[in-house]
Formats: sequence, C-alpha cells, structure tokens
Amino acid sequence: MSKQKAINTQPIRNIGVLTSGGDAPGMNAVIRAVVRGGIFHGFRVFGIERGYHGMWRGNIVELNSRSVSEKLQRGGTFLMTARSKTFNTSEGVDKAIAMAKVFNLDAVVVIGGDGTFRGARDLAAKGFPVIAIPGTIDNDIACTEYTIGYDTAMNTAMQAIDRLRDTASSHERCSVIEVMGRNAGYLALNVAVATGAEVVMIPEVETNIQSDVIKVLLEGRNRGKKHFIVVVAEGTGNTMEITRTIEKVAGIEARATILGHLQRGGSPTLRDRQMGSIMGLRAVECLHQGRLNRVIAYRQGNILDLDIEEALSMTRTISAEDLERAHILAL
Ligand code: F6P
Repeated sequence: MSKQKAINTQPIRNIGVLTSGGDAPGMNAVIRAVVRGGIFHGFRVFGIERGYHGMWRGNIVELNSRSVSEKLQRGGTFLMTARSKTFNTSEGVDKAIAMAKVFNLDAVVVIGGDGTFRGARDLAAKGFPVIAIPGTIDNDIACTEYTIGYDTAMNTAMQAIDRLRDTASSHERCSVIEVMGRNAGYLALNVAVATGAEVVMIPEVETNIQSDVIKVLLEGRNRGKKHFIVVVAEGTGNTMEITRTIEKVAGIEARATILGHLQRGGSPTLRDRQMGSIMGLRAVECLHQGRLNRVIAYRQGNILDLDIEEALSMTRTISAEDLERAHILAL
C-alpha cells in the first residue's frame, strides 16, 4: 500500500477546486462539473482563487450551482490562476495544507499542467488528498493523450495560419509562425498537418536548417510552390533568426509571426467543454468512492483515473516518423 493511501482515513466532506499555471480554454467547464458533481455527491465545494498561491494565502470561497452558471462558454478561468513561487518549496506546501485546514477542506481538485501535477504530488506526499485534472494547451502530460484546452488552442492557431496563408500567397512569401507548447511539439505538429505547412520544427526531433528547412523550401519552389508555411514550436529555436536565415539563404521573402498568448484565449470548443465536463465529474466520483491521490487521464478512448505517482513517472514523446507524416502531406 502506498504512503498516501495509508494516511487518508478521514471521510471527505469539503472539497476545494483550483486552476494553476497557464490558463486553458475549458478550465471553466471542469470547475463547473466539479462544483455541480460535487454538490450532487453531497460535498460542499470551495473555489480556491489564483491556484496554489491562493491556497496558501487563503483565497477560498464557497461555490454553489449558481456560482458556475454562464461559465461554460467562457475562455480563461474564472477562479484565476498563478504560478506560485512560494508553493514550490516544502514550506509553501506545508502553508497551503495548513490554510486548507483553516477552511476545513478535506481534499482538493487541481486543474493544470505538469507544474500543477508536481504540486499535487507534493500535497499527496504530505498526506493531503488530491485529484489532478490535465488542463494545458500544450498536451504535454505523459499519462494522458488529451489535456483540456488543447483542441481550442489548435483550432485558434489553425485559423490564424489560414489567414496568414492568404497574405503569404498574395505576396509569394514564406510565413514563419511560432506556436506555443513550451518544450513540447504536439500543438505545432498537429497544427502543421491541419494547415498543410511545408516545414514544422519541434523540440523533440532535431532540425537541420540547411537540409530540413532551406532545401525543403527550395525543392518545393522547384516543384511549383509559390508560397510557404513554416510552423515553429516555441521550444525549438529563435523564430526571428530562422526567418532571417530563410530570406538570406533560400532567397525567399519571409515574415515571422509569433502567435503567443492569442492561442490561450477564446471560447472553448465542443471537445474542450465536453472533455472538461467528463473529467470534472470523474474527479468528484473518485472522491466520493474514496479513491484519492488520482490523476484523471484520457487513454485509448477512455477516461480513467491513475495513481498520481505512477502517472507522473510515465513518459511519452514525438518520433521522427510522426514528423515524417507532416512532410509527406506537404510535398
Ligand atoms: O503551458 C502553457 C503555456 O502557454 C506554454 O505553451 C507557454 O510556454 C507558457 O504557458 C507561457 O507562460 P506564461 O503565460 O507564464 O508566459
């Protein structure tokens, strides 16, 4: 039996819910499901504002079914979020647990990316029950094939690139577009496939600027292509420098666009609302059934809950073969 399971003996009555790290469209759908599902199962539900920062600061207010009305279609997170430096220390975690006890919280549901998940593991390791739900536009959490916000961000980036293609095509230029994803290239790769990009650069697979970019663009030009889309994942390299190199070495006029935080905003897509709602409900079901310190995950078409330690030890990456598919489609 794991250490966490042995110490969680008291019944769960009051639960907190927080969003941490970068906001992601669909987080509000998750909060709504946790609140309404939690109330359905007989819990009192408390919103913790500003993530783990608000947890140790005691920014905690009770929520009811009406508190989450009209939130489903809104981007961002109405509970607000933060990246807490204090919580990243052992003392910070102790402070957060002490404050949760002041408000009589028995467990917390956290929604966020890998940093949020590490925070959840730290809380669990100190005996405070948690359920973690993946919410990040990066889709870079190994234990799950889907994270809330990913679909909306991909669609937002796709629509932006479609617009950039119009102007690139009119001027016979190369449009170099940087998309978010931190150290992961999932967002970039899928967006590249969906927009027919000639080149995609991701951190997981090394790119040679001469053979994988310049040569590919010139070969495309020699086959009759008149404009080009190059998608760069933010963790790959300097987008402005890549753009200058394309102009200088390939002799193709190029313009750079960094989509940045534009990709984090906007009304969530159906997929993010639906996945967020199901994952939120699954989290409160876990608490109701006494399955604590779990991570909600989407794997092979199913929503599951996994042991947090086991989930955080998993690894996943993008292979050169995945990248090859994007190149074949852009020939
Ligand atoms: O993790 C989500 C994300 O949007 C990443 O893609 C990006 O690298 C980072 O957050 C940006 O963080 P911030 O909003 O703190 O600048």
